[in-house]
Amino acid sequence: MAVLLALVYGQTWSTLALPDYLADIIDKGVQTQNTHYIYTTGLTMLMVALAGGICMIGVSYVATRIATGFATRIREAVFTKVEGFSLHEFNRFSSASLITRSTNDVQQIQQVLTMLLRIAFVAPFMGVGAIIKARHLDPSMTWIMAVAIVAILAIVTLIFSIALPKFKHVQKLVDKLNLVTREFLTGTRVIRAFGREAHEERKFDEINADLTRTNIFVNRLLAALQPTMMFMMNSVAIAIVWFGASQVSSGAIQIGSVLAFVQYAIQAIAAFLMLSIIFVFAPRAIVSADRIGEVLGVSATILDPKAPKVPDVTRRGTVAFEDVSFAYAGAEAAVLEHLTFTAEPGATTAFVGSTGSGKSTLVNLIPRFYDVTGGRVMVDGVDVRELKLHQLHSLIGYVPQRSTLFSGTIRSNIAYGTPKASDQDLARAASISQAKEFISGLDDGYDAPVAQGGTNLSGGQKQRLAIARAIAYDPEIYIFDDSFSALDFATDAKLRSELARKTKGKTVLIVAQRIGTIMHADNIIVLDAGRIVGQGTHDQLLKTCAVYQEIAESQLSQDELRTVGATA
Ligand SMILES: Nc1ncnc2c1ncn2[C@@H]1O[C@H](COP(=O)(O)OP(=O)(O)OP(=O)(O)O)[C@@H](O)[C@H]1O
Ligand SMILES: [Mg+2]
Repeated sequence: MAVLLALVYGQTWSTLALPDYLADIIDKGVQTQNTHYIYTTGLTMLMVALAGGICMIGVSYVATRIATGFATRIREAVFTKVEGFSLHEFNRFSSASLITRSTNDVQQIQQVLTMLLRIAFVAPFMGVGAIIKARHLDPSMTWIMAVAIVAILAIVTLIFSIALPKFKHVQKLVDKLNLVTREFLTGTRVIRAFGREAHEERKFDEINADLTRTNIFVNRLLAALQPTMMFMMNSVAIAIVWFGASQVSSGAIQIGSVLAFVQYAIQAIAAFLMLSIIFVFAPRAIVSADRIGEVLGVSATILDPKAPKVPDVTRRGTVAFEDVSFAYAGAEAAVLEHLTFTAEPGATTAFVGSTGSGKSTLVNLIPRFYDVTGGRVMVDGVDVRELKLHQLHSLIGYVPQRSTLFSGTIRSNIAYGTPKASDQDLARAASISQAKEFISGLDDGYDAPVAQGGTNLSGGQKQRLAIARAIAYDPEIYIFDDSFSALDFATDAKLRSELARKTKGKTVLIVAQRIGTIMHADNIIVLDAGRIVGQGTHDQLLKTCAVYQEIAESQLSQDELRTVGATA
C-alpha cells in the first residue's frame, strides 16, 4: 500500500510538473533564443516524463497485484465456505448461482478494484493539483475550468442516469440467458424427444434479442461520451487561448503560461471524468459484492463439535437410531418420525419402502449430511454430532443413489477416497463390484478417461465404479442407497455374494427397491411415509407386515414366495 501511494505520488507529481517545464521552455528559452536553456530544460522534461511513465507502470502493476490477490482470497473464502455447507445450505443456493458467484461476481469486483486503485487514488490528486497549479499561473482564468467541470459533471450525470438502470437490466438478462442456456444444454434429450425445440428457441431468442437491444443502447450512449468530452476539452482550450490572448497582449501573462494553463485545464477535466466513470462501474461491483456476501454470511449448521468424543471401541461399527425424527428446513411435515433400530456389525440391515417414504433421507442422517430434528443417531456408540466430522466420514463408505463420478480416469475415481491404494487393491475392489469386466474391455483399462459426471459411462457402469470406490475405502460401515438398481439381476446377485465375503464383520446398510436384493438381509426395516411399519427377516415380515407383503407380492411370483418360505 505504501509502495502504491509513493508511486501514485510520483505519477501525479511528474504529470503536474510537465506543463511548467513547457511554459519555461517557451517563455524563457524560445523567446530569448537561448538554445542551451531549451536543451537542458527539454532533457529534464524528458527525464520527468520517463519517471512519470515508470511510476504509472508501477501503479498499474501494484494495483493489479493487489486486486488479483484480493480476488484469489475471496474465491478461496467462497470455496472453503461452500465446502463446509451441509445439504441444507446447498438447498438455499442453486449450484449454477454458486458457480456464478465464485467466478463472474468475483471478477467484477476484481475489475473495479483495479480501477479504483489505479484511478481513484490518482484522479483526485491530479484534479486538485491541476486546479491549484492553474490558479497559481493565472487566477483570472480559473472560472473557465470551473464552468467546464460543472458542465462535464452535468453531462456525465445525465448520461449515466439513463445508462445505470440499463446496466442493472443487462445483469438480470445475463442471468436469464445463463438459465435458459443451462436448461437447454442439460435438457436437450427431453426437448428433442418432445419436439419442443422451437419453443426453447423462442425463449432463447426473446432474451437474446432483449439483451442485444439493451447492450447496443448502452454502448451507443457511452460511445457518445467520448466525442462530447473531446468537444468540451477543445472548447476549453479555445476559450483559454481566446481570453489568454488579450492578457498576453496586455503583458499580464506569457504565451508559455497560457499553453501550460490549457494543459492543466485538460488534466483537471480528465481527472473528473475518470472519477465519474468509477461511479458507473461501482454499482455493478456492489451488486456482485452483495451476492458474494450472501454466501459468506451463511453460517454452516453442521460443524465439528467443540469437545469431540472418541468412538467407543467396544461398539465399533454399530449404527443406532434412537427415536429419530427429521424434517427438511422450511417443510411443515416431518419426513421421518420416531425411528428406532440398531444395525450391528457383521449384519446386513435393509430398508424398503415405496418411493418418497424417506429411505434416502434416513441414510443421509448417518454421515451427518443433515442433522436430526429429534432423537439421536449413534455411530460407534457416540452421537454423530459429538464425533469429529472427519473421523465420522472415515468410518463410512457411502454409495449415493445417483452415482457421482469425477472427471479423471477410472483409477482416480476408484481411488478417490484412498489415493494411496495399490493397484491390486483397486483391482480387487473393481472385481468385487463387478466393474472389472467392463474396465478390461476399455482401450486404456484403468487409465481410460471419465468425463465430467461420468457421462461417457452407462448407468450400470457408473454404479459399479461408485461401489468400487466405497469398497476400496474399506470402511466399517457400508451404506448403499439403492445402489444396485441399474444392475441386471445376475450381476446384482453375483455382486452381493462377493460383497458379502468382503464385508464380513462390517456393518452393511442397504436401501433397495427390489425385494430380491434384500430378502437375505439379517434385518429388514419397512418404511412407510417416514415411519417404521415392520422390522424383521423376510420370512417374519411376510407373515406379519402388510406393507411388506404387498411389496413382495408385486415383485415375486407365488412360487418364489412359497419356496423362500419353505427354505427358511
Ligand atoms: N432436499 C429436500 N428438501 C425438501 N424435501 C425433500 C428433500 N429431499 C427429499 N425431500 C422429501 O422427503 C421425502 C423423502 O424423500 P427420500 O429421498 O428420502 O425418499 P426415498 O425413500 O429415498 O425415495 P426413492 O425410493 O424414490 O429414492 C419426499 O417426500 C421428498 O419430497
Ligand atoms: Mg432415495
